[in-house]
Amino acid sequence: MKKIHSLSRIALDAAIIGAGFMNAYAADETIRELAKERGRFIGTILNSEWFNDAIEPEFEEIHKTQFNVVVAENEMKFDATEPKEDEFNFEKGDKMVKYAQANGLRVRGHALAWHSQVANWVNNYKGQKEKLLAVLKNHITKVVGHWKGQIAEWDVVNEAVNDDYNADWRSTNSVWYEGIGAEFLDSAFVWAHAADPDAELCYNDYSLEWGLREGSKASFVVEQVKRWKANNIPITCVGTQTHIEIAHETTPQNVRALAKALAELNVTLNITELDIGFPKGSAGNLTKADYAKQGHLYRQFMDVFLEEPNMGEFVIWGLTDAHSWLDDQQGKTEGLLYDKQYKPKPAYDSVMASLKAHPASEVKSPYPDSILNPPDSCKTGNCGDSINALPRFNNKQNLSVHFAGRTLYITGLASKTAAKVDIFDMQGHLVFSAKDVKDNIEISSIPEGLYVVQIRQGVTRLTKQIAIK
Ligand code: G3I
Repeated sequence: MKKIHSLSRIALDAAIIGAGFMNAYAADETIRELAKERGRFIGTILNSEWFNDAIEPEFEEIHKTQFNVVVAENEMKFDATEPKEDEFNFEKGDKMVKYAQANGLRVRGHALAWHSQVANWVNNYKGQKEKLLAVLKNHITKVVGHWKGQIAEWDVVNEAVNDDYNADWRSTNSVWYEGIGAEFLDSAFVWAHAADPDAELCYNDYSLEWGLREGSKASFVVEQVKRWKANNIPITCVGTQTHIEIAHETTPQNVRALAKALAELNVTLNITELDIGFPKGSAGNLTKADYAKQGHLYRQFMDVFLEEPNMGEFVIWGLTDAHSWLDDQQGKTEGLLYDKQYKPKPAYDSVMASLKAHPASEVKSPYPDSILNPPDSCKTGNCGDSINALPRFNNKQNLSVHFAGRTLYITGLASKTAAKVDIFDMQGHLVFSAKDVKDNIEISSIPEGLYVVQIRQGVTRLTKQIAIK
């Protein structure tokens, strides 16, 4: 185990050792403080080594001092949280949530419905739609429910789009898609929202930083978000993972374009897994100019992040180059803000420079004050119901619907004027439509399942998920 360094010692070392990185910022000036003043969240993962008490003490000291949002590298994934059917293991996740609460960090939950890192037992049900729906619903309900009020935001669906030139859903090597079809995505959002109505719910994917050309992953996702919003599927954010390389110079502006497209849909864009790696072969031969270039790219991402009002979180997939998936799994290296000795790199200075160049008075936050400055009770995870409720999901209309048997009853219609009733399946296809509906209507033609009903009467409308049984 390494010798413990205090933060100020690290900064001092960085300034003294000429051959190392020169850190321009005082140790008492942190990314965290500047992020908070700007109503934003900047953070990194807690590596699996942290959960296993197998990481240098510098890691946690820097982590909690410099950052204000945290995510688990592997410990909230399906295989970690439900290793056996309906037997949940929340131990490591609880450890992180406790750490976050003790240090005032926002928590991202990663990830609920993903084709990778699914527990092996799920494969016993390959192709069995009803069973897989039940498995996924149970998983999401229990995992999100366990941390209700304590996890601000979930990656509800991760990496569900394929890598084809003309993007579409990932249809192979996904137990969820192959067994259920694309409706698993819609249902996952509905179940997550039911389990914690105050949590932000994201669709998260890689290669979204490659622009909005026709057929791209990013434009496919924007189209799906449009459909989800039209059907009142409770998505509030998109995560762009953004695992890039030093040569990918156009990516910051592509992320800006994506943020703008999502702003039109009232959806937040978060950078969720940023790293900017060098080719692994270049290790040992990197020059000051290389590190400066890396810093420049980090700065451009931070500029975009601070300038786009619908961006909320900036999460880097690792803190130190000593612990990064890039070396083990990607043929890349040194993509993070701190080097292998925990010294801040030029990229750290670039992030600070960007923050300082964007005064708090000019940076808009997508979050309400209840999230930016939660009451003390909330900091210990006791938020109470709806303290963070997202206003965009408040139904301020008087209309309501309910089912009795197969009859849909509508209450709150203005006088006795007729309304239009449309029912969509979870893929957005219209499956039922009726005009001139007064108080109720018989729905006998639709099979059992989850649907979205839309009632329209003049300018008044209500959109709601319903289960037809
Ligand atoms: O837990 C086992 C351990 O028991 C075993 O001894 C060891 C031997 O290699 O493996 C351990 O599992 C590893 C796990 O990380 C925990 O350390 C897996 O082999 C390894 O494949 C896994 O890699 C993770 C990867 O996701 C898997 O998909 C990385 O740490 C993690 O950084 C990475 O994170 C993903 C995001 O979730 C989604 N976006 C891409 C990102 C990078 O791949």
